[in-house]
Amino acid sequence: MKVASLLFFAGVFASVQAETVNEVLRRSGVVISECKLPKTAALTFDDGPNQYNVDIGTTLRKYGAKGTFFICGNLYHCIYDYADSVRKLFLQGHQIASHSWSHPDLAKLNVSAITAELEKTDQAIQDIIGFRPAYMRPPYGSYNDNVTAVAKARGQDVVIWNFDSQDWNSLTANQSETRYSDFVATKPNTVLALNHETYNTTAHEVLPYAIKLLQKNGYRLVTVAECVGGKPYLPPKPPKPPHLPPPPPHSPPHGHLPRHFLDVRGKTCS
Ligand SMILES: *[C@@H]1O[C@H](CO)[C@@H](O)[C@H](O)[C@H]1NC(C)=O
Ligand SMILES: *[C@@H]1O[C@H](CO)[C@@H](O)[C@H](O)[C@H]1NC(C)=O
Ligand SMILES: *[C@@H]1O[C@H](CO)[C@@H](O)[C@H](O)[C@H]1NC(C)=O
Ligand SMILES: *[C@@H]1O[C@H](CO)[C@@H](O)[C@H](O)[C@H]1NC(C)=O
Ligand SMILES: [Zn+2]
Repeated sequence: MKVASLLFFAGVFASVQAETVNEVLRRSGVVISECKLPKTAALTFDDGPNQYNVDIGTTLRKYGAKGTFFICGNLYHCIYDYADSVRKLFLQGHQIASHSWSHPDLAKLNVSAITAELEKTDQAIQDIIGFRPAYMRPPYGSYNDNVTAVAKARGQDVVIWNFDSQDWNSLTANQSETRYSDFVATKPNTVLALNHETYNTTAHEVLPYAIKLLQKNGYRLVTVAECVGGKPYLPPKPPKPPHLPPPPPHSPPHGHLPRHFLDVRGKTCS
């Protein structure tokens, strides 16, 4: 853990703590489908954590851009198995947000099941980065009043999009790129773009194309929280009493992380 990372971390912590829970609840539950700050673009990546997430974060960083990752607890992979890469994205300044635990259509679930999907995900994200996400994206972009009510009760906003690269719809890289350039040609005030981190073409072809296209057209590539003028994270819930056995005296894999990070050793998704 470098000093810069620690300072960044302390800064996030201070800004999260400065806001009371009541202040957060008063303005949450909103459905966001557009950025608010003019000439911003938020590239978002769903369905991780998965194998290309660090490549995506590194490419964004190379161009001075930030992205937002809507990750699941247990879709293609168990989130705890990707704890290191999620932390890496977080420490690079990308935003970590919730995409539910198992990727169901939340609009088909009752309130307690929606709550369970979001709580498990938020707790896992807290275990990994020390904070809870202030933004969630419902799988398939599907929500109803129950979903927005649960999000609001949790202090979260619901994020949709105003541009879909359709990488999920078997489009080739070239076809997704054409969709980006056609959309930019309409001179939108802002861009909130749906992508999926699970596709090689998205990570290695469409992403660099989209970044260059958007920057050439004067857009600033920022996180969702930044593009709507909000804060990315909610304060952590106090930890439950530890029930893990003490770590062995040697070979602590995360021994250098600050105490604020909970230890994810021994955590599983089953
Ligand atoms: C919301 O959830 C409740 C149960 O928790 C259910 O009875 C109701 O039909 C749901 N509303 C919608 C619009 O699905
Ligand atoms: C909500 O749905 C779950 C899963 O379908 C079910 O097990 C549970 O009994 C339901 N709870 C209520 C209060 O209807
Ligand atoms: C897509 O492919 C066509 C044909 O090769 C090419 O002319 C076009 O420039 C490509 N579009 C993009 C956005 O890369
Ligand atoms: C991913 O895409 C890159 C270039 O776009 C290619 O070189 C690589 O072989 C691809 N990897 C897989 C696993 O398909
Ligand atoms: Zn999804």
